[in-house]
Amino acid sequence: MAKMWKGRFTKTATQSANEFNASITFDKRMYAQDIEGSCAHAKMLAKQGILTADEAEAITSALNEIRKDIEDGKIEFTIEGEDIHMNIETVLTERIGDIGKKLHTARSRNDQVAVDFRLYMRNEIDSITELLEILKRTLVGIAEKNQDTVMPGYTHLQRAQPVTLAHYMMAYFNMFSRDSERFRDCRRRTNRLPLGSGALAGTTYSTDRDFLAEELGFDEICPNSIDAVSDRDFALEFLSDASICMMHLSRFCEELILWNSTEFGFIEMDDSFATGSSIMPQKKNPDMAELIRGKAGRVYGDMIALFTIMKSLPLAYNKDMQEDKPPCFDAADTLKACISIFTEMISTVTFNRETMRSAVKYGFMNATDAADYLVRKGIPFRDCHEIIGKLVLYCINENTAIEDVPLEKLREFSDKFDGDIYENITPEACIRAKKSSGSTSFDSVKKQLAAAEKQEV
Ligand code: ARG
Repeated sequence: MAKMWKGRFTKTATQSANEFNASITFDKRMYAQDIEGSCAHAKMLAKQGILTADEAEAITSALNEIRKDIEDGKIEFTIEGEDIHMNIETVLTERIGDIGKKLHTARSRNDQVAVDFRLYMRNEIDSITELLEILKRTLVGIAEKNQDTVMPGYTHLQRAQPVTLAHYMMAYFNMFSRDSERFRDCRRRTNRLPLGSGALAGTTYSTDRDFLAEELGFDEICPNSIDAVSDRDFALEFLSDASICMMHLSRFCEELILWNSTEFGFIEMDDSFATGSSIMPQKKNPDMAELIRGKAGRVYGDMIALFTIMKSLPLAYNKDMQEDKPPCFDAADTLKACISIFTEMISTVTFNRETMRSAVKYGFMNATDAADYLVRKGIPFRDCHEIIGKLVLYCINENTAIEDVPLEKLREFSDKFDGDIYENITPEACIRAKKSSGSTSFDSVKKQLAAAEKQEV
């Protein structure tokens, strides 16, 4: 097939060069955006008197038919057509002849690819924020039901202080809320129109870029034509945001994997989200969670790929930039799949409330509260810390817990201990006693839940 630039050339590309050069295998998924952009462009050209109304009408209706034919699998894209932009233009010209050739007036593939890519990523961002909302609602649902579920909170993966499962779920809720915020912020910078910038320097036609922005739902137009065709910051931002979100999912999966182990026994994964072993009949492995954790690495790889592709590119467009799409598409596909499967998985997990509650018994998780008790009796905190430290050491040697030490013995460590110490160091009392806003106290978590209900999406 003859190339669109055949005028300047005396030889045609070899088959292997064509294959190497082509992006159609992956950019074909932008067909709808390419047609949307072209229809807006044709309308604008007609409005400005650059095309006649009939010509624009012929172009847009042919493009809409092409869209339908692509969806019905009636169009075969070719490697010689190189990319989605030229493949569609070729079919258009085959169908309506010379009028089709007029579509590329006042436009370059450089601003065309930039506009298609932004439209496509804008859509992906919207799907991702919707999926994140479903996940966030699922977490709120689990939290609502587990406001009284007491479990160990950890630092250094060592038992630290008792918290509620609701508080824990709301920690992740906050992480996913920030992810959502980041994606919405990224959308603002993605939603700027590059079309109308030509190859890099603008066009000699009196185009109307504001009209194009309006037609295509862009909030603003890119103000500098060189930057407009060279900028892939929106894609880098998307990949960064996707990486952070995958990191959050991965941390959550890591916890679920630990909690699902016999050693913890805090949860049981539903059979539908686990797999067996080909050799060990007793096994039930949390594969989905492990796979999400693994896929975080894959999305980081996508991010690093594009940062590396972009880092030494002189302005404006360079062919290297064709490599921008596979990592973004892969990251978007991966992230969407991970959020969806994670949401299903977490909503079918069984929480072993009794095991969580009894785990709080071991590990002196009430030691800080015992120290706070002595502070309330007038002893400076540092001294209380030392007294309780010695008491813990005694308990370790005696293989007992603070709440199981009789009062006379406690008084050997401090005469400020009274009978009310015991009711002050139950896990529930430790939780209830927290007063700072955002704490694990039952009241604070209730407030967090109420705020989550009201959170604007
Ligand atoms: N297939 C190209 C890409 O994805 C389209 C832009 C080509 N522009 C050019 N001057 N070669 O980046």
